[in-house]
Amino acid sequence: MTIPATAVHHRDPSMQAPEYVRKIAPYLPGKPIAELAREFGLAERDIVKLASNENPRGPGPAVRAAIAAAIDDLSRYPDGNGFELKAALATRHRVAADQIVLGNGSNDVLELVTQAFLRPGDHAVYSRHAFAVYPLATQARGAAGIEVAARHFTHDLPAMRAAITATTRVVFVANPNNPTGTWLPPAAIEAFLDGVGDDVIVVLDEAYHEYLDPALQTASAEWIGRHPNLVVTRTFSKAYGLAALRVGYGIMHPKVADMLNRVRQPFNVNGLAQAAAVAALGDTAYVEESRRLNRDGMRALEEGFAALGVTWLPSHANFILVQVGNAGRVYQRLLAQGVIVRPVANYALPEWLRVTVGVAAENRRFLEALATALAG
Ligand SMILES: Cc1ncc(COP(=O)(O)O)c(C=O)c1O
Repeated sequence: MTIPATAVHHRDPSMQAPEYVRKIAPYLPGKPIAELAREFGLAERDIVKLASNENPRGPGPAVRAAIAAAIDDLSRYPDGNGFELKAALATRHRVAADQIVLGNGSNDVLELVTQAFLRPGDHAVYSRHAFAVYPLATQARGAAGIEVAARHFTHDLPAMRAAITATTRVVFVANPNNPTGTWLPPAAIEAFLDGVGDDVIVVLDEAYHEYLDPALQTASAEWIGRHPNLVVTRTFSKAYGLAALRVGYGIMHPKVADMLNRVRQPFNVNGLAQAAAVAALGDTAYVEESRRLNRDGMRALEEGFAALGVTWLPSHANFILVQVGNAGRVYQRLLAQGVIVRPVANYALPEWLRVTVGVAAENRRFLEALATALAG
């Protein structure tokens, strides 16, 4: 159905949405492979997508088998309480199952926190160059974000602490952070938690935790005992390779979990996702191999950047920021060569591109295309 422009002009029902919803700038996802293929007349198999921090390996055999087995149950609603997955996660993190809230991606858990804790007039604090969903989820509740200037591209935790006021209900800290790949040591996070009152929910977003060097990995959920206001979020979308299934979780005090569960859709995580996540959690070799592949790919990208004479920001995640000058132009020149990366001007980083680490052949293809793009 085509709606005549005049009808929209005279009676636009979208104007009935609250102003704070109308003012939201929509999330800009990485360009899908099929879209670039259509736009540039390219074959999908010739396109390299390094734009959404996905695991380039595809699902492992254990996950494939679990999904195949779960197909027979597709006509039934999934377990709305996620019993099996929560039990596995509780064992893994040495917490009680009622401390875990499952989400349709960890993004869902971030949304649930804002839904449960923010009301119009409240404030949420987050850093500049931090994950784009924090302002979106905050604005969707009619609350306002306080964006704190970053320090050396990362969270300035003392400044974030100082930005908290009587109307601040939530603080978001991504560690490692997207899109900068920067990482804060546990002592800095703990000092921050010590300085924040228990009446402010602190979301520690650890979507890229599994990509950290194991020597740097901390069981931050253990801090919940001393800090009942702490919510740690993790995801199966990155190192576990399940981005399309949408499954993540938060670990928190049971009373905080109770609040999130009250606003959560009853069946927010589908049955295939739950089955796949249980299998993925048990397949530690897959995660280790993904981390190794990422480390080697990261090194290859850094060597490539050094050879091209461009600056990059050392990263602890599965992506890296590279400074290319006119990033919009370089992005377009990469697209024309069938390579999708992520411009980050919307993160106040107009000279940079964010590149997800791919498999070796993808990284090579990207570096060749970047050399061509920079040569003009
Ligand atoms: C820092 C950070 N947090 C959360 C997410 C959400 O991921 P998902 O909803 O797939 O778990 C992402 C995804 O890019 C991210 O970069």
